[in-house]
Amino acid sequence: MLLKAIIAVVLVTGTLSDTVKVSIYYEALCGDSIRFIAQQLHPNFPKLADYIDLDLVPYGKAVHSNIHGTYYFSCQHGPAECKGNVYQSCALSQNQGDRKNVEFVNCIMRRNPDHFVNVEKCARKHEFNIGKIRNCSRGVEGSELLAQNGEKTLQLEPVLSFVPTIIYNDVYSNQDHMQSLKDFAAVVCSKIEGDKPEICANKRLPRTSWGFFEIF
Ligand SMILES: *[C@@H]1O[C@H](CO)[C@@H](O)[C@H](O)[C@H]1NC(C)=O
Repeated sequence: MLLKAIIAVVLVTGTLSDTVKVSIYYEALCGDSIRFIAQQLHPNFPKLADYIDLDLVPYGKAVHSNIHGTYYFSCQHGPAECKGNVYQSCALSQNQGDRKNVEFVNCIMRRNPDHFVNVEKCARKHEFNIGKIRNCSRGVEGSELLAQNGEKTLQLEPVLSFVPTIIYNDVYSNQDHMQSLKDFAAVVCSKIEGDKPEICANKRLPRTSWGFFEIF
């Protein structure tokens, strides 16, 4: 009887492993964003994809305004960064799934988005519709998508201070965020309830470095 109950519990927790929502607020030309995507997100994602519900938000520390129906943007690293963020917003709106989105974003983050040929290369390689990205980025749709990312970013609490910012299940934690920059997989693993994928075996959360504080 007890054994049956234990087996039932194991079965239930095993099948109920909910996905972890991972939101990444980043911007195209930011060194720390590029590093996080290239060294943490991209290499680990295939092994964690089944456990993650990914929310990629390219915008970062940009600002935007809408004057008489037209959007204007100003990005932290200049107009080329705005372009990169728009191309990515347009590509992500094709809803190709998290795995392909990570591939595309990783590809374009490593290249200069100011040269459209790079966007074309990444789109072709990862089977995104380049015609749609082109039309979207040059029209109202691209501006609206980027503005939506902006609204989402501006609603963050606390306000976005570090780019990229990584948020789990819609709740910001400075410790989760800082540890993610060192070992993204370890933090995701710590959030997975129930059966964990193989990559999680022997994963330890990296230490958060504590600063020195004056106590008196
Ligand atoms: C892009 O826009 C042009 C002009 O409106 C249109 O002819 C073309 O079909 C569009 N391409 C795609 C892929 O939507």
